[in-house]
Amino acid sequence: MTAARPAVGIADIRLATASRVLSLDDLAAAQGVDPAKYHVGIGQDEFSVPAEDEDPVTLACAAAAPILAAHGTEGVRSLFVGSESGVDQSKSIGAHAHALLGLPTGCRAVEFKQACYGGTAALRAALGLVAAEPGERVLVVATDVAHYELGGGAEATQGAAAVAMLVSADPAVLCIEPGSGQATIDVFDFWRPNDRAAPLVDGKLSVRAYEQAVVAAWDDYAAHGGGPIGEIARFCYHQPFTRMAEKAHQRLLAHLGLPHQATAVHAALEPTERLNRRLGNSYTASVYSALLSLLTGDEDLAGRRILIGSYGSGSVAEVFTGVPVAGYREALRPAAPDAALAGRVRIGVEEYRRLHALAERGSAEDYDTAVGPGKHGPVRFAGVHGGIRRYEPVAGA
Ligand code: HMG
Repeated sequence: MTAARPAVGIADIRLATASRVLSLDDLAAAQGVDPAKYHVGIGQDEFSVPAEDEDPVTLACAAAAPILAAHGTEGVRSLFVGSESGVDQSKSIGAHAHALLGLPTGCRAVEFKQACYGGTAALRAALGLVAAEPGERVLVVATDVAHYELGGGAEATQGAAAVAMLVSADPAVLCIEPGSGQATIDVFDFWRPNDRAAPLVDGKLSVRAYEQAVVAAWDDYAAHGGGPIGEIARFCYHQPFTRMAEKAHQRLLAHLGLPHQATAVHAALEPTERLNRRLGNSYTASVYSALLSLLTGDEDLAGRRILIGSYGSGSVAEVFTGVPVAGYREALRPAAPDAALAGRVRIGVEEYRRLHALAERGSAEDYDTAVGPGKHGPVRFAGVHGGIRRYEPVAGA
């Protein structure tokens, strides 16, 4: 007789973001664009901007440190990081963050990459590992800085955040259900060659590619025993901008022959959009900040099914479901994500452009970074010396 498989899923989930914020009203004024294009057309209000001593490693540490403080490191034998803005072509963000987080040597640290899908790849690997070894816990972090070239439509869809999740058996927050649907479709909608700081993007194609991939992933889910859409209470999608999630859901509903009126879809998805309207695109972290937005919102979703819809350009999509555990709201600190957003320092377009240029510095020359006010998290990026990125503790953190 085989033993029953334990429930596996998310035992804790935390968000960190960069310490600066730019209003899209200010960007629109500088660009000579109607701000309604951003607030209404793409559904975004502002975006987080990293200070010069913040990067995907410091964001990952800021998101993960409170989880380790609350739950300890015992049984954490893997640190899986999803990112597409890695700071090194070889050494993973996980290997950088492992020591900074005080994880034990007996712990593997790896980075998963496939555009915005990388965080989901890391989570799926963690779920499989814990299902096989229920005594282990895996620290998963999705961390990214979305950095586009100045000018053009994509500039308003930048952002920065990390979401850390502790994956365990018998989780206190979200049980992930067996089964998933996935799709890989080769397309050049958004990509970043190794020698470029900013991606190349075909914005219109990327919207169509996202919609097509979500439909294909859903069809795969249905073909592999996935339940009917009517049994899903809420839908959490990757949100490069929040309207994109609504477009994808409308497309899925239309594909299934269901009503897909824009206002009804907006109302259905709005509880997942609270944080991302203000974070901007956080690539791999975006779908999990959408989940956190939902779980820390007003509605008690214990026992109700949530679909997680992940998309990464290039492209890979996956849909799978989770069910919040009774009492999950007590396991979360519902005010923490909004407090992180409220704690950012507001900057103007000139300072944003200065930070944007600094973020493109390479490793050929040594430099130190300045310490700014309002730092989030335990670690700062101190600069590059001899090609090595240096990190140091934040005083008083
Ligand atoms: P654009 O081409 O400048 O904008 O940039 P637009 O002209 O298409 O306008 C956008 C929407 O605003 C339109 O609505 C307009 O009608 C509306 P829609 O027709 O789409 O419903 N609009 C207004 N609404 C109210 N008042 C106004 C007004 N003016 C216009 N005054 C684009 C849009 C998405 C192309 C651009 O932001 C972009 O290139 N972004 C980057 C790529 C991206 O985010 N793609 C999303 C799918 S791919 C993805 O999600 C993966 C990604 O996260 C990367 C990864 O996986 O690693 C990006």
